Amino acid sequence: MFENKTVLIVGGASGMGLLSGKCFANEGANVVLTDINEEALNEKVAEIKTDGGKVIGVKCDVRDYNQVIAVRDKALEEFKTIDILINFVGGYEPRMLNVSGDYADLPIEVFDWGIDVNLKGPFYFCHSVLNQMKKQKGGVIVNLGSVTGIEGAADGMAYPTAKSGIMCGMTKSLAKYGAPHNIRAVCVTPGPVLTRPDMASMGTILGRAAEPQEIVDFIMYLASDKAKFITGTNHIIDGGRLCML
Ligand SMILES: NC(=O)c1ccc[n+]([C@@H]2O[C@H](COP(=O)([O-])OP(=O)(O)OC[C@H]3O[C@@H](n4cnc5c(N)ncnc54)[C@H](O)[C@@H]3O)[C@@H](O)[C@H]2O)c1
Repeated sequence: MFENKTVLIVGGASGMGLLSGKCFANEGANVVLTDINEEALNEKVAEIKTDGGKVIGVKCDVRDYNQVIAVRDKALEEFKTIDILINFVGGYEPRMLNVSGDYADLPIEVFDWGIDVNLKGPFYFCHSVLNQMKKQKGGVIVNLGSVTGIEGAADGMAYPTAKSGIMCGMTKSLAKYGAPHNIRAVCVTPGPVLTRPDMASMGTILGRAAEPQEIVDFIMYLASDKAKFITGTNHIIDGGRLCML
């Protein structure tokens, strides 16, 4: 389904980003995986290549726009187009930075990190591909939200702040900007997903967390031409968790 399409996957060395890299490669896409974790990235790129996938890995810290541009340029040098961008990068700042305690007592750098990685980094990647997608007369951007962006979280305030921004203002703005150029922008907002075992404890009305494949299948549908009338929307896929509010 994705023959001759190039998919740029941000946060592709683990979790749903990695799984989608494998799935897009299996569907014939050219895959560019980027991540800050170079060791995992190299290992996973080698695995996908062994399985016959067309893939490159480029290390990048999404907090640095120059590194983002370098990834885009490397992708174009290798595959000539960028047709689909998926922003998986993100994480809950207390967990990622291994800090805990009253949020008012944490250094402000914790909040800054959360906004930089969860909001600014994904926007940097969107910004970096817009002119290329305009030149190609089309493209698809898929962002990742989180139900925490609707629920809020007292112990990690940057993550829900950033995710709300992505789910609403950022994705809608990109969709409006992109529409005249045949560029679609959508957001997928999961509830708990079993990329880590501890997510199993987060409740849903279905009584379980999602398998990563359930989210990736939906993202692949949205990225495909089957979804060509879908843009500017946020798609909650949470096993009914938000019904519990
Ligand atoms: N797992 C869940 O339950 C869940 C629920 C809702 C939303 N989400 C969202 O889905 C997305 C993917 O989740 P996941 O669990 O697969 O994530 P994950 O933690 O497995 O992957 C995130 C990747 O981002 C990379 N990364 C972190 N900081 C970076 C930086 N500065 N520059 C470049 N790469 C960096 C990490 O190395 C990692 O490989 C995230 O945006 C997450 O917030 C996940």
